[in-house]
Amino acid sequence: MDYKSLINTTNLPKHIAVIMDGNGRWAKDHGKARIFGHKHGVKSVRSVVEGAGEIGLKFITLYAFSTENWNRPKVEVAALMQLLVSTISNEVTELNKSNVRLLTIGDLDSLPNNCCKELERAIESTKNNTGLTLVLALSYSSKWEITRAVKNIAVKIKNGDLLPNEINEKLIETHLQTFMIPDPELLIRTSGENRISNYLLWQIAYSELYFTEKLWPDFTKEDLFEAIVNFQKRERRFGLTSEQLKN
Ligand code: IPE
Ligand code: IPE
Ligand code: MG
Repeated sequence: MDYKSLINTTNLPKHIAVIMDGNGRWAKDHGKARIFGHKHGVKSVRSVVEGAGEIGLKFITLYAFSTENWNRPKVEVAALMQLLVSTISNEVTELNKSNVRLLTIGDLDSLPNNCCKELERAIESTKNNTGLTLVLALSYSSKWEITRAVKNIAVKIKNGDLLPNEINEKLIETHLQTFMIPDPELLIRTSGENRISNYLLWQIAYSELYFTEKLWPDFTKEDLFEAIVNFQKRERRFGLTSEQLKN
């Protein structure tokens, strides 16, 4: 099926968030070590970013490493960090060619120094690109992000820069790391797991959820297009009745 031709490009989700899951199981299925799956997962990232650019999507956020992932075996964590460094440095030229701007969310200070340096370089180099914004969630968890926001708000109140009754949803949003990014309208998770795993909890309050059995290294831009076609068939009611929406 050619899903791309079925997409209504005037009604694209403003932002798609992706939980890239299943690399380890994919490697196991191929009789290989987990890192082999992570390496193949990079190909899927490339394909999805390319596809997002082709249809004119504005924002995509990829969950690449969670706060909880630090508890994985040391060798896997080290290999993932190494893969991150090499991928970023290899892809910067391509990102610039495709007019993609790179951003990150998460606790970047907790990443190894060479990762931070490489990321900062790539962010700086792509900052004026006006096509897709690719956000990598690294050492990210939603509870961490919300806790950080609460702390920053508390400091402002303590310093007399803010009154408690000035706290509203807008203010909380401006203290999240995603303050410049619209909320995801579509959240995709691969590998058949039906859970959120501490991802963008505030921001997905009204997102459409799309779960697929495909393991991340098998996921391509065609699968992204299929998810978007599925999204566009849904009626988003935001608490209203179906009849209200038709009037
Ligand atoms: C997702 O694949 C990548 C990361 C979490 C870094 P997994 O490594 O979680 O793969 P499975 O879930 O074990 O198959
Ligand atoms: C979620 O995947 C995190 C990323 C994709 C980076 P996990 O594989 O870590 O999630 P759980 O532990 O199965 O929920
Ligand atoms: Mg997993």
